[in-house]
Amino acid sequence: MIKGKHITVFLLVAVALSLLLAFSAGEFRLPGNDQGYEPPQPIAFSHRLHAGELEVPCLYCHSGARKSRNAGIPPAQLCMNCHKSVQAPFAQVRAEAAAAEKEKRKPGKIVSPELRKLYTALGLDDSLSKDPSVTPAPVAWRRVHNLPDFVYFDHRPHTGAGVACQACHGPVEAMERVRQHSTLTMGWCLDCHRGTPAAAAPGGGHSHVTTDCSRCHY
Ligand code: HEC
Ligand code: HEC
Ligand code: HEC
Ligand code: HEC
Ligand code: HEC
Repeated sequence: MIKGKHITVFLLVAVALSLLLAFSAGEFRLPGNDQGYEPPQPIAFSHRLHAGELEVPCLYCHSGARKSRNAGIPPAQLCMNCHKSVQAPFAQVRAEAAAAEKEKRKPGKIVSPELRKLYTALGLDDSLSKDPSVTPAPVAWRRVHNLPDFVYFDHRPHTGAGVACQACHGPVEAMERVRQHSTLTMGWCLDCHRGTPAAAAPGGGHSHVTTDCSRCHY
């Protein structure tokens, strides 16, 4: 029902906009995009720390960008490859070790409150044993980028052609919290596909990439 209505509206607008496009030659943009959108996340996960300082490759966590339409958000289990052993920032662990030595006692266990949320998501307690009182539930990450349903976007051809993540997502490795860097408008897609200077970015401009309506719209 809803789908059928969508298509009718889409076709009507499509006809109008193809006329508009013919005149405005790619300058066109719809108002009200979400550029700059930066929702708070349930765990204060930092790309600046992980992808920047620690230099964990984007594809280690977003392997989908090579294999499927969606880049994907890693499951909590993947975080545990490191956070089984790293339970708090190194500086805090070192400070506690030094204090304990001075006071001639055993260092206390430090668990970061942010990482405790990760453990809770997996139904684990601070010593990483199953906690029967906690039901595991996936971390409810909030989506940052979101194209309308009538647009088809696939990461694969882009990753395959060597377009850098940053060409579209900006300097994520410098972001404490991810924000939408680009407009994600149709003009933005087309600028790069046409290889205009507006697309100048690490990925560069590309000519002769599709501008065929049906490749991006159902
Ligand atoms: C250690 C794992 C990890 C690494 C490495 C990593 N990411 Fe992420 N990424 C995440 C998680 C978890 C989220 C969801 C939470 C958030 O938005 O911060 C995410 C979210 C994102 C989003 C927003 C998705 C949305 O909701 O629209 C983008 C874009 C992104 N990452 C790009 C990158 C890029 C580019 C790199 C490399 C420079 C990278 N990531 C490295 C784990 C990682
Ligand atoms: C050509 C532009 C472009 C490139 C290159 C690109 N992305 Fe994206 N990415 C997008 C768009 C557009 C969306 C929103 C898709 C949607 O809403 O359907 C998105 C969504 C995402 C998301 C959240 C939704 C999902 O697909 O799971 C993540 C995470 C992400 N990108 C990570 C990456 C990473 C990591 C790389 C590099 C390996 C990368 N992207 C390369 C344009 C790009
Ligand atoms: C390659 C190893 C690695 C992976 C994978 C990894 N982390 Fe980390 N993470 C670290 C290290 C190391 C630190 C501590 C750095 C420091 O000393 O401050 C850290 C710190 C953090 C912190 C900050 C804790 C605090 O209190 O300051 C959070 C939150 C976090 N990670 C969440 C995640 C999440 C969520 C994932 C999975 C999406 C993840 N990490 C994947 C290595 C990793
Ligand atoms: C930074 C440059 C850049 C941006 C921005 C960009 N693309 Fe692309 N796109 C490319 C390149 C390069 C290719 C690969 C062409 C090839 O393999 O020959 C491609 C390929 C594609 C393909 C496959 C075309 C085919 O014929 O198989 C589709 C579909 C597509 N892009 C859709 C989009 C959509 C939708 C957006 C905007 C949300 C977008 N692209 C934004 C550079 C870009
Ligand atoms: C490279 C990918 C790409 C190509 C090719 C493309 N579009 Fe789009 N189109 C998009 C994206 C992305 C949006 C969403 C823009 C936004 O949300 O601001 C969009 C939005 C639209 C809308 C706006 C609907 C609305 O009301 O929000 C119409 C209509 C449309 N496109 C028609 C066309 C027509 C007609 C063609 C062929 C001349 C075409 N598109 C070619 C990517 C593309």
